[in-house]
Amino acid sequence: MDEIKDIDGPAGVAAGFDREAWEERYRTRSALWSGRPNPQLVAEAAVLAPGRALDAGCGEGADALWLAGRGWRVTAADLAATALDRAAARAAAADPQLADRITWLRADLGERPPAGAGFELVSAQYLHLPVEARPALFAGLAAAVAPGGTLLIVGHHPRDLAGGGGPRLLPEMLFTPEEAAAGLDPADWQVRTARTRPRRAEDRTGRPVTVHDAVLVAVRRGSAVASPSDALSDSASGSASGSLSGKDAAR
Ligand SMILES: C[S@@+](CC[C@H](N)C(=O)[O-])C[C@H]1O[C@@H](n2cnc3c(N)ncnc32)[C@H](O)[C@@H]1O
Repeated sequence: MDEIKDIDGPAGVAAGFDREAWEERYRTRSALWSGRPNPQLVAEAAVLAPGRALDAGCGEGADALWLAGRGWRVTAADLAATALDRAAARAAAADPQLADRITWLRADLGERPPAGAGFELVSAQYLHLPVEARPALFAGLAAAVAPGGTLLIVGHHPRDLAGGGGPRLLPEMLFTPEEAAAGLDPADWQVRTARTRPRRAEDRTGRPVTVHDAVLVAVRRGSAVASPSDALSDSASGSASGSLSGKDAAR
């Protein structure tokens, strides 16, 4: 059974969503998430040829590790150093060779979205930012996709606010697939999916519930072109902190 990505505070009340609040969430529990890759990522990326992937808001790294296992070279970025440290330690313990394919990067993707079209896959799974920060975030994620590459944005859909078992999130943090797709110029993008997908999950008491994911899958027009950073990216691993330009991501 899948999980719900609650982002409530330790007291069960949605608190802040800045860096310190996220650090605190991760510090107060040894594991926030299940350790399994997200189902929408698995469904969409399983059919893609591996290349360079950006996991935006990677949390404890289950998606990054799964992608690395499928041959992707992954830049896994998150606001919270506590999450990144945990993710890196778990990946190294699970499979050192796969861990070598992942670069862990501390970055505030709302403040400074990635720059440069360096990734064949940009995946943001349940990266819920406040409404005013989302246009820049979504535009930055889209700009990071290489020609021919795929943008995958998944979040909890606002319709779950009405249900008893839905995610504990502030209403203004939720978005629809249409909002995620709104900034994509049809001349540059083919939207493959912009829809709401129901999913079976367990609520926080273990009860089965149906939740709804907002899912955007879009492909950037143009064929993949090898960039000068390709050669660099083959030797990339470890962790970094700072901005996320295509060049940085390839280190
Ligand atoms: C709900 S969790 C999802 C984690 C992971 N994608 C998953 O599905 O397991 C959201 C993640 O986004 C990160 N995050 C929140 N705001 C961020 C920002 N402005 N920049 C980068 N990461 C951010 C949080 O630290 C957290 O790890």
